[in-house]
Amino acid sequence: MYEHDLLIVGAGLAGLRAGVEGVQKGLRTAVITKVHPVRSHSNAAQGGINAPLTDRGDEWEGHALDTIKGSDYLADQDAVEIMSSEAGDAVLELERMGVIFSRGDDGRLGTRRFGGQKVARTFFVGAITGSAMLHVLYEQALKHGLQVYEEWFVTSLIKEEGAVRGVIALDMKTGELHAIRAKAVLLAAGGAGRVFEPSTNALICTGDGLSLAWRAGAPLMDMEMIQYHPTTLARTGILLSEAARGEGAYLLNSDGERFMEKAAPDYMELASRDVVSRAEQVEINEGRGVDGNVLLDLRHLGRTFIEERLGYLQEVAVEFLGIDLAEQPVPIRPGMHYIMGGIKTNADGETEIPGLYAAGECANVSVHGANRLGANSLLDTIVFGRRAAKKSVEYVKSIGENGSDSEAHLKAEKERLQALLDRPKGARTAEIRNEMATGMTEGIGVFRDQNSMEGALAKVHEMRKKYDASIYVENKGKVFNTDLMFALELDFMLDCAEAVATGALMRKESRGAHFRTDMPDRDDENWLKHTLSYKSEEGVRTETLDVVVTKWEPVKRVY
Ligand code: FUM
Repeated sequence: MYEHDLLIVGAGLAGLRAGVEGVQKGLRTAVITKVHPVRSHSNAAQGGINAPLTDRGDEWEGHALDTIKGSDYLADQDAVEIMSSEAGDAVLELERMGVIFSRGDDGRLGTRRFGGQKVARTFFVGAITGSAMLHVLYEQALKHGLQVYEEWFVTSLIKEEGAVRGVIALDMKTGELHAIRAKAVLLAAGGAGRVFEPSTNALICTGDGLSLAWRAGAPLMDMEMIQYHPTTLARTGILLSEAARGEGAYLLNSDGERFMEKAAPDYMELASRDVVSRAEQVEINEGRGVDGNVLLDLRHLGRTFIEERLGYLQEVAVEFLGIDLAEQPVPIRPGMHYIMGGIKTNADGETEIPGLYAAGECANVSVHGANRLGANSLLDTIVFGRRAAKKSVEYVKSIGENGSDSEAHLKAEKERLQALLDRPKGARTAEIRNEMATGMTEGIGVFRDQNSMEGALAKVHEMRKKYDASIYVENKGKVFNTDLMFALELDFMLDCAEAVATGALMRKESRGAHFRTDMPDRDDENWLKHTLSYKSEEGVRTETLDVVVTKWEPVKRVY
């Protein structure tokens, strides 16, 4: 029998930050992760982490306003105030833990300017910020004795009498299913990027946490808000960090024009991501692209600067396209990168289900709204990972023993998985997954309309039917049965895809990343609202919820 006070699902930045907090507060805490912690997708974050530091003459209100404007006024302003005002301490704490942030010539921590922000307040480690932070937090986890269930895959939550009381998980090495009881479960399992194809996201980003929460009855909020990053490498979809534009790179069309002059004359290449991605797509659609891409030009930055500050980008461009960034512009295009929507939580990570918390990309605290600013996701993981753990500590201390009948849940889950393995033939995971993911990109892309979104939802329903009737796992073995794991991940992805398409069809306006060509205007009168979806026996139930406005009244968003 496995038993904890606090069990955290996912060992990326939000999960590890929460885990360290749980142990420090004296709880029997563990993280459970389907990969080794430092292979979590936080590892892929490149450009930096935002923090307004007062000793630089930067106040938190400036960061809050940029974030709210970036969100196209969909972020809840009370939550943004918390994130912005706690950001400085969070970054300094990371530095003290051992993150070796890049420094400026004056020896102080260096900053670069990221999109949608008036000032340079993005702290960074070259172009490997997420990786550097993740390794340091993993060291902290080891130092504090955080228990890690490594390469364990959570298949379902244990919920009894309305509260979450643990998980059922598959130990990938042995193929055995186990019940792990916990007084509180904190989902920090990352995003759902692979619901779209292509995506900058790792193959592990399959929306597990979102689906687990949804199935347990928690609502998913603003799922239609999908971020397309403006600079993904042609042909491969690999992320080329916004740090390039932050350091001064240009975007050019096939005529050699800096087309951002038309879309964002003040911010140019450093407008918010949704604005830049749309401007690129317009160039491509109107015939001023280069084989379905536009160009990112770093040549004027010089070889030494590129190699010192943007070395990772240079490596990727050379390795995958044979392009030396100091000599040649590189073709890029918008690519699916992040999901602003997620499990609805408050600023303490509480969901609507007792005992269930969420943080990081799978959660929607509502600080990103309709468009996240670059370098606010790392900040979100650290600030809200810690806060969610803190709140769950209070909850754990307030309840008695965990008397859940975990064996009954385990038995039911064993039967479900065995039925999957017993199916003698049927559809393979890859064919359903590809059809779903390309359908999502086609229907819910940079630009979308009623028809395209209905097409995406119909495709998801068709794929769900096919999955339920015929998904087939060929490998019947126990040890590292990734065939089985991929099939279970696809089950989670289909849930996420349904929630995204449902949210998209609900929202009858354009806002941030949700740009409808058939309804191109923002409609604050009717849609200064979040979309919520609940999974129910009868299908998806939808609701709306007013956005929290504290002191920044919505105004027209121009860059
Ligand atoms: O472009 C980037 O470096 C990505 C950063 C982010 O998504 O926050």
